Amino acid sequence: MQGNPFDFSGRHVFVAGGSGGINFGIAQAFARAGASLSLISRSADRVESAASRLRELGIDAIGVAADVRQPDAVGRAFSQAAARFGPIDVLVSGAAGNFLAKALDMSPNAFKTVVDIDLLGSFNVLRLSHEHLRKPGACIIQISASQASVATPYQLHVSAAKAGIDMLTRGLALEWGAQGIRINSIIPGPIQETEGLRRLAPTPETLKAMADRVPLKRLGKIEDVSRVAMMLASDWGSYITGTVIAVDGGLFLTGPRDFSAAAQASRRD
Ligand code: HXC
Ligand code: NAP
Repeated sequence: MQGNPFDFSGRHVFVAGGSGGINFGIAQAFARAGASLSLISRSADRVESAASRLRELGIDAIGVAADVRQPDAVGRAFSQAAARFGPIDVLVSGAAGNFLAKALDMSPNAFKTVVDIDLLGSFNVLRLSHEHLRKPGACIIQISASQASVATPYQLHVSAAKAGIDMLTRGLALEWGAQGIRINSIIPGPIQETEGLRRLAPTPETLKAMADRVPLKRLGKIEDVSRVAMMLASDWGSYITGTVIAVDGGLFLTGPRDFSAAAQASRRD
């Protein structure tokens, strides 16, 4: 074994949707391991403030405002990032939006909005990253969700989008494998203190019910996810591609969830 496989000094990590939550936690983990970071998200303030927190760790980081639904903006962000830090070694694609709503309470535009951000946005990020990825050697990590494979009422938009994301992972593992590009999906479980979980478990009661349901009997932490992301991106993951890895305390084993109480608590009137 040569060197420390978790030393990312001199590597360039690009995180789409990197201004907060799980994706920012992954960015922080790579920054602590010495990488240079490029972040994009919609809000110029949020993404710049996230980059500045990373710079406080003593590494180089830039934050660029770009909506993943806008291919031109995403393309410009990749060019800017590559001009600054060179080819991308690790790409994390995690921009997403979600809300609880029954199909009949979702307008066509509501469904489209989530599919546009999560699925089309991921395609834009992956497609436009390609010319800037290190070949061979780049590792792509998509952030999916259990809704991709577990039928989930109130989550039809996310289910459809994240299932599509996992199929992008499988298809691109085949198309780009020969260029030495690996791609995998991570499915985080219910991760504490995140916007995603606040939306699905908005009250103490629904949060406790969620934790109780997890076979390991606890909510996940952001570092549960970031450690797996780092393993996948390291040499230890060098023969892993096209997979979907659940980091969810075994929640995927427990089948469909009932979000009716959570939806009632987060109703828009
Ligand atoms: C029904 C809703 C709705 C709701 C919005 N819409 N919220 N419909 N119930 N609660 C409808 C609107 O009425 C509108 O349709 C359409 O959706 C678009 O809404 P906008 O507000 O214009 O969209 P936009 O500004 O692009 O915002 C996107 C968003 C927003 C997804 C709606 O919530 C957002 O920005 N989210 C980002 C943060 C986030 O969601 N983080 C969690 C990610 S976690 P009409 O017809 O009126 O025009 C995640 C969960 C995975 O992905 C699983 C976790 C376990
Ligand atoms: P979050 O904090 O809301 O993260 C979403 C990120 O995406 C934010 O940085 C947001 O920044 C950005 N974003 C949203 N729309 C965008 C767009 N159109 N273009 C560019 N960036 C956009 O939520 P989170 O809970 O940490 O979720 C992070 C990822 O984990 C998501 O992919 C989610 O589906 C997945 N996940 C979360 C959980 C959980 O328990 N939290 C469970 C399973 C899966 P701006 O608002 O600045 O754009």
